[in-house]
Amino acid sequence: MIRAMATTNPVPRFPAGFQWGVSTSAHQIEGAVRLREPSVWDAFTDRPGRVKDGSTAAVACDHYHRYREDVALLAGLGVNAYRFSVSWPRVLREGGLDFYDRLVDELCAAGVRPVPTLFHWDLPLALHEAGGWLKRDTAARFAEYVSLVAGRLGDRVRQWITLNEPAEHTLLGHALGTHAPGERLMFGALPVAHHQLLAHGLAVRALRAAGAAEVGITNSHGPTWPASPEPADVEAADFYDVLLNRLFADPVLLGAYPEGFGELMPGEVGADLKVIAEPLDFYGVNYYAPTKVGAPQGEEIDFGGVRMPAELPFSVREIEGRPLTDFGWPVVPEALTELLTAFRTRYGDRLPPVVVTENGCSYEGLDDQDRITYLDGHLRALHRALEAGVDVRGYFVWSLMDNFEWAEGHARRFGLVHVDFTTLRRTPKASYHWFREVLRAQRG
Ligand code: NOJ
Repeated sequence: MIRAMATTNPVPRFPAGFQWGVSTSAHQIEGAVRLREPSVWDAFTDRPGRVKDGSTAAVACDHYHRYREDVALLAGLGVNAYRFSVSWPRVLREGGLDFYDRLVDELCAAGVRPVPTLFHWDLPLALHEAGGWLKRDTAARFAEYVSLVAGRLGDRVRQWITLNEPAEHTLLGHALGTHAPGERLMFGALPVAHHQLLAHGLAVRALRAAGAAEVGITNSHGPTWPASPEPADVEAADFYDVLLNRLFADPVLLGAYPEGFGELMPGEVGADLKVIAEPLDFYGVNYYAPTKVGAPQGEEIDFGGVRMPAELPFSVREIEGRPLTDFGWPVVPEALTELLTAFRTRYGDRLPPVVVTENGCSYEGLDDQDRITYLDGHLRALHRALEAGVDVRGYFVWSLMDNFEWAEGHARRFGLVHVDFTTLRRTPKASYHWFREVLRAQRG
């Protein structure tokens, strides 16, 4: 049996009532594609060359059929919360909500709080074909779907997340085309940002109307470091910082777009911003790594598997002198403290309590000591943010188990639990045992 290595220096104690969890998403784990409507990701992975190892999520972890075993893994780990996503294309199929009914019941019986995300990138294909996120109507359709889900699960679910990482869905899915739906619209993708934000605001209203107790959004964030103090590098880094750290946060937290962006958005932007800025109970942050950014270099570069066209007004650079995960992402735990304290300074009292809704790393192997080192470092960095006065209420590891890592297919493994994608056998890794001990110590 794989055992966690003994830690000599225990993780500092987090406040009582702290939320400890792991995260997953529907498309990445469920499988059972024929029991739902198709999504943009099904169509994308069917096109050759889009997913690196040629895999699809048709089976993924087969969580749809094995959710009981997976909930038992959660209970064994000792988390008090589980963040998963509801598949909109599954809910559109007659009886599709029954699956989430069963999952939520199983979680409640195991004493694990369900924390559903309502959109994690798997837009129903039919909606995409009708215009998708480029069309305002998709936001209204999202709110209808959210009402349906909340009406069904709201008696047992008290905490909801509207969207997952709309920045990545806009940038990778609609500007650069490396994710579904594979559009390469560059800055023509900005309406996708606005309509997702509008969808978020309408969903908040729908959830409140259904009696939801706690509502939040999950955005991805990370410190942006200029490649040098040269003005051209600083300017490029500032622009990247606006795209990643402000474009989806300012409208939600301040009710305004960063300067210069409001004019580029479609529709009645002023009125929409009132909807988008509906007050939230918590703000979800996904953090993986900081980014070093410099002036454009005039050539296309491949960065972490993402093709960055030459015409972008910035270029992403390597961060040297740091260990890298198998994905090539630098390991910089203290950047999590930097991120959260800077966020608190930027938004002040407009920032609701923060929940880290994803943090994790991709490494091979069952004896994943590198993952333990990564998570241990980030928990300490998170604690330092708490000490510095940031109101952090929870931490979720990405991910419970290895799964379908989008354009990387099954080649990147983020799980605390190993999944053999041939036999679908689950095997807890050293990091699972380590995290269980951390959680036990926090309870004790
Ligand atoms: C963020 C996304 O929300 C999740 O779906 C993805 O697997 C992880 N990052 C790792 O890349």
